[in-house]
Amino acid sequence: MKIINIVGARPNFMKMAPIVNEMKNAGINQVLVHTGQHYDHKMSKLFFEDLALPRPHINLEVGSGTHAGQTGDIMKKVEPVFITERPDLILVVGDVNSTLACAITASKLGIPVAHVEAGLRSFDRTMPEEINRVLTDAISDCLFVSEDSGIDNLKNEGMPEEKIFFVGNTMIDTLLEHRKKAESISPLGTVHIKNISYGVVTLHRPNNVENRENLKNIIEALAIVSRGMPLIFPVHPRTVKKIDEFGLRGMLSEIRGNVSSGIYMTEPLGYLNFLGLMAGAGLVFTDSGGIQEETTVLGIPCITLRDNTERPVTITYGTNVLAGADKNKIIACAKERLNGYGKDSGIPELWDGKAAKRIVSVLIDKFSG
Ligand code: UD1
Repeated sequence: MKIINIVGARPNFMKMAPIVNEMKNAGINQVLVHTGQHYDHKMSKLFFEDLALPRPHINLEVGSGTHAGQTGDIMKKVEPVFITERPDLILVVGDVNSTLACAITASKLGIPVAHVEAGLRSFDRTMPEEINRVLTDAISDCLFVSEDSGIDNLKNEGMPEEKIFFVGNTMIDTLLEHRKKAESISPLGTVHIKNISYGVVTLHRPNNVENRENLKNIIEALAIVSRGMPLIFPVHPRTVKKIDEFGLRGMLSEIRGNVSSGIYMTEPLGYLNFLGLMAGAGLVFTDSGGIQEETTVLGIPCITLRDNTERPVTITYGTNVLAGADKNKIIACAKERLNGYGKDSGIPELWDGKAAKRIVSVLIDKFSG
Protein backbone atom coordinates (compact mmCIF):
# COMPACT_ATOMS: atom_id res chain seq x y z
CA MET A 1 0.00 0.00 0.00
CA LYS A 2 1.32 3.42 -0.95
CA ILE A 3 0.04 6.56 0.78
CA ILE A 4 0.82 10.22 0.12
CA ASN A 5 0.64 12.31 3.30
CA ILE A 6 0.09 16.04 2.86
CA VAL A 7 1.29 18.87 5.10
CA GLY A 8 1.30 22.57 4.32
CA ALA A 9 0.82 24.91 7.26
CA ARG A 10 1.98 25.05 10.88
CA PRO A 11 -1.04 23.33 12.47
CA ASN A 12 -0.64 20.34 10.12
CA PHE A 13 2.75 19.23 11.37
CA MET A 14 1.75 18.13 14.89
CA LYS A 15 -1.35 16.37 13.53
CA MET A 16 0.66 14.45 10.94
CA ALA A 17 3.74 13.47 12.99
CA PRO A 18 2.22 10.50 14.89
CA ILE A 19 0.53 9.20 11.72
CA VAL A 20 3.85 9.18 9.84
CA ASN A 21 5.35 7.27 12.77
CA GLU A 22 2.59 4.67 12.93
CA MET A 23 2.71 4.16 9.16
CA LYS A 24 6.44 3.62 9.43
CA ASN A 25 5.91 1.02 12.18
CA ALA A 26 3.32 -0.71 10.01
CA GLY A 27 5.75 -0.84 7.04
CA ILE A 28 3.51 1.32 4.81
CA ASN A 29 5.17 2.90 1.78
CA GLN A 30 4.61 6.61 2.41
CA VAL A 31 5.50 9.79 0.57
CA LEU A 32 5.45 13.07 2.52
CA VAL A 33 4.48 16.10 0.43
CA HIS A 34 4.87 19.64 1.85
CA THR A 35 2.93 22.21 -0.15
CA GLY A 36 5.10 25.05 1.17
CA GLN A 37 2.04 27.11 2.25
CA HIS A 38 4.10 27.98 5.33
CA TYR A 39 7.76 28.47 4.53
CA ASP A 40 9.42 30.60 7.24
CA HIS A 41 11.90 28.65 9.37
CA LYS A 42 9.82 29.39 12.47
CA MET A 43 6.50 28.42 10.87
CA SER A 44 7.72 25.19 9.28
CA LYS A 45 11.26 23.77 9.51
CA LEU A 46 11.47 24.24 13.28
CA PHE A 47 8.46 21.92 13.63
CA PHE A 48 10.09 19.21 11.54
CA GLU A 49 13.07 19.36 13.90
CA ASP A 50 11.03 19.41 17.13
CA LEU A 51 8.70 16.61 16.03
CA ALA A 52 11.41 14.52 14.32
CA LEU A 53 9.33 14.52 11.16
CA PRO A 54 11.25 13.18 8.17
CA ARG A 55 12.28 15.67 5.50
CA PRO A 56 9.44 15.94 2.96
CA HIS A 57 10.10 13.89 -0.17
CA ILE A 58 8.59 16.71 -2.22
CA ASN A 59 8.15 20.42 -1.45
CA LEU A 60 5.83 22.28 -3.81
CA GLU A 61 7.01 25.67 -2.52
CA VAL A 62 3.77 27.48 -3.20
CA GLY A 63 4.23 30.20 -0.57
CA SER A 64 1.71 32.94 0.22
CA GLY A 65 -1.07 34.24 -1.99
CA THR A 66 -4.76 34.98 -2.13
CA HIS A 67 -7.00 32.07 -1.18
CA ALA A 68 -7.80 31.19 -4.79
CA GLY A 69 -4.22 31.80 -5.90
CA GLN A 70 -2.73 29.63 -3.15
CA THR A 71 -5.33 26.85 -3.55
CA GLY A 72 -4.98 26.86 -7.35
CA ASP A 73 -1.17 26.84 -7.23
CA ILE A 74 -1.19 23.84 -4.91
CA MET A 75 -3.62 21.96 -7.19
CA LYS A 76 -1.54 22.64 -10.29
CA LYS A 77 1.71 21.60 -8.61
CA VAL A 78 0.41 18.51 -6.79
CA GLU A 79 -1.46 16.98 -9.74
CA PRO A 80 1.67 15.74 -11.56
CA VAL A 81 2.98 14.34 -8.25
CA PHE A 82 -0.19 12.27 -7.78
CA ILE A 83 -0.06 11.11 -11.41
CA THR A 84 3.59 10.04 -11.16
CA GLU A 85 3.41 8.49 -7.69
CA ARG A 86 0.06 6.71 -8.26
CA PRO A 87 -0.75 6.28 -4.55
CA ASP A 88 -3.54 4.03 -3.26
CA LEU A 89 -4.68 6.87 -1.03
CA ILE A 90 -3.85 10.43 -0.02
CA LEU A 91 -4.20 11.57 3.58
CA VAL A 92 -4.90 15.19 4.54
CA VAL A 93 -5.24 16.75 7.99
CA GLY A 94 -7.06 19.80 9.36
CA ASP A 95 -8.68 22.64 7.47
CA VAL A 96 -6.04 24.76 5.73
CA ASN A 97 -5.94 25.63 2.04
CA SER A 98 -3.43 22.82 1.42
CA THR A 99 -5.95 20.30 2.83
CA LEU A 100 -8.70 21.28 0.41
CA ALA A 101 -6.46 21.76 -2.64
CA CYS A 102 -4.93 18.28 -2.37
CA ALA A 103 -8.27 16.61 -1.58
CA ILE A 104 -9.91 18.08 -4.71
CA THR A 105 -6.96 17.16 -6.92
CA ALA A 106 -6.84 13.55 -5.70
CA SER A 107 -10.57 13.10 -5.87
CA LYS A 108 -10.68 14.23 -9.52
CA LEU A 109 -7.94 11.69 -10.33
CA GLY A 110 -10.02 8.96 -8.69
CA ILE A 111 -7.57 8.58 -5.79
CA PRO A 112 -9.29 7.90 -2.43
CA VAL A 113 -8.91 10.64 0.21
CA ALA A 114 -8.69 10.21 3.99
CA HIS A 115 -9.40 13.32 6.08
CA VAL A 116 -8.10 13.53 9.64
CA GLU A 117 -10.08 15.97 11.84
CA ALA A 118 -13.25 15.52 9.80
CA GLY A 119 -16.67 16.78 10.82
CA LEU A 120 -15.67 19.84 12.86
CA ARG A 121 -18.03 22.74 12.13
CA SER A 122 -18.11 26.34 13.37
CA PHE A 123 -21.20 26.95 11.16
CA ASP A 124 -19.52 30.24 10.26
CA ARG A 125 -18.98 30.31 6.51
CA THR A 126 -17.09 33.61 6.71
CA MET A 127 -14.12 31.56 7.97
CA PRO A 128 -11.99 30.21 5.11
CA GLU A 129 -11.29 27.14 7.23
CA GLU A 130 -15.01 26.30 7.48
CA ILE A 131 -15.28 26.24 3.67
CA ASN A 132 -12.20 24.00 3.57
CA ARG A 133 -13.72 21.64 6.17
CA VAL A 134 -17.11 21.26 4.51
CA LEU A 135 -15.70 20.74 1.02
CA THR A 136 -12.90 18.38 2.06
CA ASP A 137 -15.33 16.17 3.98
CA ALA A 138 -17.76 16.11 1.06
CA ILE A 139 -15.16 14.47 -1.23
CA SER A 140 -13.34 12.27 1.31
CA ASP A 141 -13.66 8.49 1.44
CA CYS A 142 -12.51 8.06 5.05
CA LEU A 143 -13.59 10.59 7.65
CA PHE A 144 -11.51 10.39 10.83
CA VAL A 145 -13.32 12.25 13.59
CA SER A 146 -11.70 13.72 16.73
CA GLU A 147 -14.75 14.56 18.88
CA ASP A 148 -18.34 13.36 18.95
CA SER A 149 -19.84 16.58 17.52
CA GLY A 150 -18.06 15.61 14.28
CA ILE A 151 -20.09 12.41 13.98
CA ASP A 152 -23.39 14.28 14.31
CA ASN A 153 -22.32 16.98 11.85
CA LEU A 154 -21.29 14.46 9.21
CA LYS A 155 -24.48 12.44 9.64
CA ASN A 156 -26.55 15.63 9.36
CA GLU A 157 -24.76 16.36 6.08
CA GLY A 158 -25.79 12.94 4.79
CA MET A 159 -22.41 11.19 4.99
CA PRO A 160 -22.78 7.41 5.03
CA GLU A 161 -21.94 5.93 8.41
CA GLU A 162 -19.45 3.47 6.97
CA LYS A 163 -17.14 6.35 6.00
CA ILE A 164 -17.05 7.80 9.54
CA PHE A 165 -14.49 6.63 12.12
CA PHE A 166 -14.30 8.15 15.61
CA VAL A 167 -10.59 7.77 16.36
CA GLY A 168 -9.62 10.62 18.73
CA ASN A 169 -7.16 13.43 18.21
CA THR A 170 -3.70 13.00 16.68
CA MET A 171 -2.62 16.47 17.85
CA ILE A 172 -3.17 15.21 21.39
CA ASP A 173 -1.07 12.10 20.58
CA THR A 174 1.76 14.54 19.85
CA LEU A 175 1.12 16.63 22.96
CA LEU A 176 1.15 13.61 25.27
CA GLU A 177 4.33 12.31 23.69
CA HIS A 178 6.23 15.60 24.05
CA ARG A 179 4.75 17.10 27.20
CA LYS A 180 7.44 15.98 29.65
CA LYS A 181 10.28 17.17 27.45
CA ALA A 182 8.54 20.50 26.78
CA GLU A 183 8.01 21.10 30.49
CA SER A 184 11.69 20.56 31.21
CA ILE A 185 13.03 23.29 28.90
CA SER A 186 13.24 27.08 29.23
CA PRO A 187 10.69 28.06 26.60
CA LEU A 188 11.93 31.63 26.22
CA GLY A 189 15.66 30.88 26.37
CA THR A 190 17.42 33.41 28.55
CA VAL A 191 14.20 35.12 29.65
CA HIS A 192 13.21 33.22 32.77
CA ILE A 193 9.53 32.89 33.46
CA LYS A 194 9.43 29.79 35.61
CA ASN A 195 7.80 30.59 38.97
CA ILE A 196 6.13 33.68 37.50
CA SER A 197 2.38 33.74 36.98
CA TYR A 198 1.89 34.68 33.32
CA GLY A 199 -0.55 34.37 30.46
CA VAL A 200 -0.02 33.43 26.79
CA VAL A 201 -1.62 35.07 23.75
CA THR A 202 -1.90 33.93 20.12
CA LEU A 203 -3.81 35.79 17.44
CA HIS A 204 -3.98 35.34 13.68
CA ARG A 205 -7.58 34.97 12.43
CA PRO A 206 -8.28 37.43 9.60
CA ASN A 207 -11.49 38.51 11.36
CA ASN A 208 -9.47 39.61 14.40
CA VAL A 209 -6.24 40.90 12.93
CA GLU A 210 -7.35 42.42 9.64
CA ASN A 211 -10.09 44.51 11.22
CA ARG A 212 -8.54 47.49 13.05
CA GLU A 213 -11.44 47.87 15.49
CA ASN A 214 -11.33 44.21 16.56
CA LEU A 215 -7.55 44.11 16.86
CA LYS A 216 -7.53 47.35 18.88
CA ASN A 217 -10.30 46.08 21.21
CA ILE A 218 -8.46 42.83 21.84
CA ILE A 219 -5.10 44.50 22.50
CA GLU A 220 -6.71 47.09 24.80
CA ALA A 221 -8.44 44.32 26.78
CA LEU A 222 -5.19 42.36 27.02
CA ALA A 223 -3.33 45.51 28.11
CA ILE A 224 -5.73 45.84 31.05
CA VAL A 225 -5.39 42.16 32.00
CA SER A 226 -1.61 42.46 31.70
CA ARG A 227 -1.44 45.07 34.48
CA GLY A 228 -1.86 42.17 36.91
CA MET A 229 -0.11 39.44 34.95
CA PRO A 230 2.49 39.60 32.18
CA LEU A 231 1.27 38.22 28.87
CA ILE A 232 3.65 36.50 26.43
CA PHE A 233 2.58 36.92 22.82
CA PRO A 234 4.38 34.87 20.12
CA VAL A 235 3.21 36.77 17.07
CA HIS A 236 2.16 35.21 13.74
CA PRO A 237 3.72 36.94 10.67
CA ARG A 238 0.30 38.12 9.43
CA THR A 239 -0.42 39.72 12.81
CA VAL A 240 2.90 41.59 13.04
CA LYS A 241 2.20 43.21 9.68
CA LYS A 242 -1.24 44.34 10.82
CA ILE A 243 -0.09 45.61 14.24
CA ASP A 244 2.34 47.91 12.43
CA GLU A 245 -0.08 48.90 9.70
CA PHE A 246 -2.74 49.88 12.27
CA GLY A 247 -0.24 51.73 14.50
CA LEU A 248 -0.87 49.51 17.56
CA ARG A 249 2.70 48.62 18.49
CA GLY A 250 2.75 51.25 21.25
CA MET A 251 0.69 48.99 23.54
CA LEU A 252 3.16 46.11 23.21
CA SER A 253 6.75 45.54 24.37
CA GLU A 254 9.58 43.46 22.97
CA ILE A 255 10.65 40.68 25.29
CA ARG A 256 14.12 41.00 26.78
CA GLY A 257 15.43 40.75 30.32
CA ASN A 258 12.79 40.44 33.02
CA VAL A 259 9.07 40.42 32.52
CA SER A 260 6.75 42.23 34.93
CA SER A 261 3.43 43.70 33.79
CA GLY A 262 2.60 44.27 30.12
CA ILE A 263 2.24 42.38 26.85
CA TYR A 264 5.52 40.98 25.54
CA MET A 265 5.89 40.09 21.85
CA THR A 266 8.16 37.24 20.74
CA GLU A 267 8.73 35.62 17.37
CA PRO A 268 6.63 32.51 16.65
CA LEU A 269 7.95 29.65 18.82
CA GLY A 270 8.74 26.07 17.87
CA TYR A 271 6.53 23.22 19.02
CA LEU A 272 8.38 22.28 22.20
CA ASN A 273 8.95 25.86 23.34
CA PHE A 274 5.34 26.80 22.75
CA LEU A 275 4.05 23.70 24.51
CA GLY A 276 6.40 24.38 27.43
CA LEU A 277 5.26 28.02 27.57
CA MET A 278 1.60 27.03 27.49
CA ALA A 279 1.99 24.26 30.08
CA GLY A 280 3.40 26.78 32.59
CA ALA A 281 0.77 29.48 31.94
CA GLY A 282 -2.05 30.54 34.22
CA LEU A 283 -4.29 31.59 31.36
CA VAL A 284 -4.29 31.42 27.55
CA PHE A 285 -5.97 33.83 25.11
CA THR A 286 -6.22 32.54 21.55
CA ASP A 287 -8.13 32.49 18.30
CA SER A 288 -6.45 29.28 17.15
CA GLY A 289 -8.35 26.03 16.77
CA GLY A 290 -5.77 23.60 18.07
CA ILE A 291 -4.80 25.60 21.15
CA GLN A 292 -8.38 25.31 22.44
CA GLU A 293 -7.83 21.54 22.46
CA GLU A 294 -4.30 21.60 23.86
CA THR A 295 -5.29 23.82 26.81
CA THR A 296 -8.17 21.46 27.59
CA VAL A 297 -5.76 18.54 27.91
CA LEU A 298 -3.26 20.63 29.90
CA GLY A 299 -6.08 21.81 32.22
CA ILE A 300 -5.23 25.49 31.58
CA PRO A 301 -8.10 28.00 31.31
CA CYS A 302 -8.51 29.16 27.70
CA ILE A 303 -10.31 32.32 26.60
CA THR A 304 -11.10 32.03 22.92
CA LEU A 305 -11.17 35.34 21.05
CA ARG A 306 -13.89 34.20 18.65
CA ASP A 307 -17.69 34.10 18.71
CA ASN A 308 -17.86 30.43 17.80
CA THR A 309 -15.83 27.25 17.86
CA GLU A 310 -15.77 24.17 15.66
CA ARG A 311 -14.47 22.28 18.73
CA PRO A 312 -17.46 22.40 21.14
CA VAL A 313 -16.10 19.58 23.31
CA THR A 314 -13.50 22.05 24.61
CA ILE A 315 -16.39 24.07 26.09
CA THR A 316 -18.76 21.31 27.21
CA TYR A 317 -15.96 19.19 28.61
CA GLY A 318 -12.78 21.27 28.63
CA THR A 319 -11.41 24.56 29.93
CA ASN A 320 -12.53 26.80 27.06
CA VAL A 321 -14.87 29.85 27.02
CA LEU A 322 -15.74 32.15 24.11
CA ALA A 323 -15.19 35.90 24.48
CA GLY A 324 -15.05 37.11 20.85
CA ALA A 325 -13.33 40.43 20.22
CA ASP A 326 -15.47 42.11 22.88
CA LYS A 327 -13.24 44.15 25.19
CA ASN A 328 -15.48 43.95 28.28
CA LYS A 329 -16.18 40.27 27.83
CA ILE A 330 -12.47 39.44 27.48
CA ILE A 331 -11.66 41.36 30.67
CA ALA A 332 -14.61 39.81 32.56
CA CYS A 333 -13.67 36.26 31.50
CA ALA A 334 -10.05 36.84 32.51
CA LYS A 335 -11.04 38.26 35.91
CA GLU A 336 -13.33 35.32 36.57
CA ARG A 337 -10.57 32.86 35.76
CA LEU A 338 -7.90 34.73 37.72
CA ASN A 339 -10.19 34.88 40.73
CA GLY A 340 -10.36 31.11 40.68
CA TYR A 341 -13.82 30.69 39.21
CA GLY A 342 -12.58 28.12 36.74
CA LYS A 343 -14.72 25.45 35.18
CA ASP A 344 -14.55 21.78 36.01
CA SER A 345 -12.93 20.10 33.09
CA GLY A 346 -12.03 16.66 31.85
CA ILE A 347 -10.29 14.92 28.97
CA PRO A 348 -12.58 14.28 25.98
CA GLU A 349 -13.24 10.71 24.88
CA LEU A 350 -10.39 8.97 23.01
CA TRP A 351 -7.91 11.84 23.49
CA ASP A 352 -5.61 9.21 24.86
CA GLY A 353 -2.52 9.28 22.66
CA LYS A 354 -3.65 6.42 20.42
CA ALA A 355 -5.53 8.16 17.63
CA ALA A 356 -2.84 7.61 14.98
CA LYS A 357 -2.76 3.89 15.79
CA ARG A 358 -6.51 3.67 15.22
CA ILE A 359 -6.24 5.59 11.93
CA VAL A 360 -3.52 3.35 10.55
CA SER A 361 -5.38 0.23 11.57
CA VAL A 362 -8.53 1.42 9.70
CA LEU A 363 -6.45 2.26 6.62
CA ILE A 364 -4.81 -1.17 6.59
CA ASP A 365 -8.22 -2.80 6.94
CA LYS A 366 -9.77 -0.82 4.11
CA PHE A 367 -6.99 -0.27 1.61
CA SER A 368 -4.30 -2.95 1.85
CA GLY A 369 -4.43 -5.92 -0.48
C1 UD1 B 1 -3.16 29.32 7.91
C2 UD1 B 1 -4.47 28.54 7.91
C3 UD1 B 1 -5.09 28.60 9.31
C4 UD1 B 1 -4.11 28.17 10.37
C5 UD1 B 1 -2.87 29.04 10.27
C6 UD1 B 1 -1.83 28.70 11.32
C7 UD1 B 1 -5.71 28.61 5.75
C8 UD1 B 1 -6.90 29.15 5.09
N1 UD1 B 1 -5.45 29.12 6.99
O1 UD1 B 1 -3.49 30.70 8.12
O2 UD1 B 1 -6.21 27.73 9.33
O3 UD1 B 1 -4.69 28.30 11.65
O4 UD1 B 1 -2.32 28.86 8.94
O5 UD1 B 1 -0.72 29.53 11.22
O6 UD1 B 1 -5.04 27.78 5.21
N2 UD1 B 1 3.21 34.13 6.24
C9 UD1 B 1 4.55 34.33 6.46
N3 UD1 B 1 5.35 33.24 6.64
C10 UD1 B 1 4.88 31.98 6.59
C11 UD1 B 1 3.50 31.78 6.36
C12 UD1 B 1 2.68 32.87 6.20
O7 UD1 B 1 5.02 35.46 6.50
O8 UD1 B 1 5.66 31.01 6.75
C13 UD1 B 1 2.33 35.28 6.04
C14 UD1 B 1 1.93 35.36 4.58
O9 UD1 B 1 2.71 36.24 3.88
C15 UD1 B 1 0.49 35.84 4.62
C16 UD1 B 1 0.01 35.48 6.00
O10 UD1 B 1 1.15 35.09 6.78
O11 UD1 B 1 0.41 37.23 4.50
C17 UD1 B 1 -1.01 34.41 5.96
O12 UD1 B 1 -0.50 33.12 5.59
P1 UD1 B 1 -1.51 31.97 5.06
O13 UD1 B 1 -0.84 30.69 4.90
O14 UD1 B 1 -2.28 32.50 3.92
O15 UD1 B 1 -2.59 31.84 6.20
P2 UD1 B 1 -2.46 31.84 7.78
O16 UD1 B 1 -3.05 33.08 8.30
O17 UD1 B 1 -1.09 31.47 8.25
